[in-house]
Amino acid sequence: MAEKIFIGVAWPYASGSRHLGHVAGFGIPCDVFARYHRLVGNDVLMVSGTDEHGTPVTVRAEREGKAPAVLADHYNREIAANLLELGISYDLFTRTITPNHYRLVQELFLAHYEKGTVFSDTMQGTYCEHCQRFLPDRYVEGSCPYCGYEDARGDQCDECGRQLDPEELLAPRCKICGHPAATKETEHFFLDLPTFSDRLRQYVLRHQDHWRPNVLNFSLGLLNEGLKPRPITRDLEWGVPIPLEGYGDKRIYVWFDAVAGYYTASHEWAQRTGDSERWREWWQNPQSRHYYFMGKDNIVFHSIIWPSMLMGYDESLQLPYDVVSSEFLTMEGKQFSTSRGVAVWLPDFLSRYDPDPLRFYLTINGPEARDTDFSWAEFVRRNNDELVATWGNLAYRVLSMTQRYFEGVVPDPGELDEQDQALLEQVRAGFGQVGELLAQCKFKAAILQGMAIAHEGNRYLELCEPWKTAKKDRQRTATTLFVALRLVDSLKTLFCPFMPHTSQQLHRLLGYPGTIVGELEMEETDYEGRAHRFYRWNPGAWEGCWAPSELPAGQQLRPAQPLFSKLDDSVVEQELARMRQQIDVS
Ligand code: MF3
Ligand code: ZN
Repeated sequence: MAEKIFIGVAWPYASGSRHLGHVAGFGIPCDVFARYHRLVGNDVLMVSGTDEHGTPVTVRAEREGKAPAVLADHYNREIAANLLELGISYDLFTRTITPNHYRLVQELFLAHYEKGTVFSDTMQGTYCEHCQRFLPDRYVEGSCPYCGYEDARGDQCDECGRQLDPEELLAPRCKICGHPAATKETEHFFLDLPTFSDRLRQYVLRHQDHWRPNVLNFSLGLLNEGLKPRPITRDLEWGVPIPLEGYGDKRIYVWFDAVAGYYTASHEWAQRTGDSERWREWWQNPQSRHYYFMGKDNIVFHSIIWPSMLMGYDESLQLPYDVVSSEFLTMEGKQFSTSRGVAVWLPDFLSRYDPDPLRFYLTINGPEARDTDFSWAEFVRRNNDELVATWGNLAYRVLSMTQRYFEGVVPDPGELDEQDQALLEQVRAGFGQVGELLAQCKFKAAILQGMAIAHEGNRYLELCEPWKTAKKDRQRTATTLFVALRLVDSLKTLFCPFMPHTSQQLHRLLGYPGTIVGELEMEETDYEGRAHRFYRWNPGAWEGCWAPSELPAGQQLRPAQPLFSKLDDSVVEQELARMRQQIDVS
């Protein structure tokens, strides 16, 4: 029976271009997972969107002299377009500024408020006497209490990656005017996390067998330290208004608002399908499983805060089944840093390179279980020595030999010998093995398994030497190429979750008419009275399924084309020079 799989993907801030570190954390893994489950025949609902509130957006908007909405609008478009080009197949990629989102976030807030799990209290806020304003989150900078980095921000340190509160910063200063910051009493609303502690602990322990150690240990660590009520509003004018009288100068802060987006976007998705109740099939179905994908700086929001928000709002809603967090990707050995220009920006990358080699790199050398590094030398090497040499060449050789010796028609195999059968058997088993690894979110191991099968395919060709047998033994050549074509066709499916664009290209080259999976579409419609641009996976008609090839003899192939191209070694120097330039400019 088809399983219901919900996939929540961390919402990228619409505060600037996104870089490779961002997509390594949330973008590629979620899509590998979603595509695998769709190929298996499960019902996937994957949602996200741009996170358009919060101080990352307002700080930058102020610096550029723009309204936050204008800045967010711009980056929403750019980010959505980039993620679409990467092929991240969200069922809906929306925004946090829709009326639907505002309404449901306020409903959630009020439900908690009425039960007392959201309450108001006074606190010491960070304040700038010079600007005469409170300085939430990114409006304050100072030294990181953990690593000493001097330009840590009030919400996070870019050097060590820790989440911070503004009050923790040493020698805090106002980001706007640079004066030392003071503190001043202010009233805010708090989510009463301690009330949920016991239930949270049981919840986390219930899932300990399948959570990654980083998520499990981090979450249990927080619970052991003891949770404190957490402020969920800020002194800001940009954000979801507090649905109570007298708080016009404050807003619900981005975390309470953005994580709720998983739920609100599911509603929006349902409304767009024409059946506004369909979100319930995932959210109120105890059989459904909910997976969340994010970078490690977001763990607490998904394993502690969001479950508390759900428990306190409506007991019937499904909690995260897995919180799949990545570690960090570094860039040429350093932390990605926007301010220091250490980054590869997505729009830039995608203007020069194809998406699949990046998806390959970020899966096979992604920060799945530990921090890993993106370096241009390694990118070029993996592209040339692994992707092109192993998988690309295999597909290309088999297609072009079929063309040369059999006019591009899949030959009749005749009798398969033991070696032929063993290879096809290995591929068949591969679907089980790779599938199991993917279902457990072990993406690196899964792609390595696929690559091992591609290696076997190359070895098989070396042993059978169809280029030699072609001259003397036509039947043997036919058998070899038939087996090799089935292998390549199967690898097309096994690699599809990782590299959907080239798998689709290969699908066509193998002579199939349709698409393995649906298409991604950017659309602009009126939604609740506003023009709203969003993108989505449109299932339409698609034919892929997670099973070995049944490519029939007699099928006409299309002329062979390479799936990947080799990169010249000079790419490394060029890209490093580009990066140095970025640093000089900033
Ligand atoms: N915008 C946040 C960030 O980039 C992530 C939000 S994920 C969600 O760190 F949990 F809030 F949805
Ligand atoms: Zn100031």
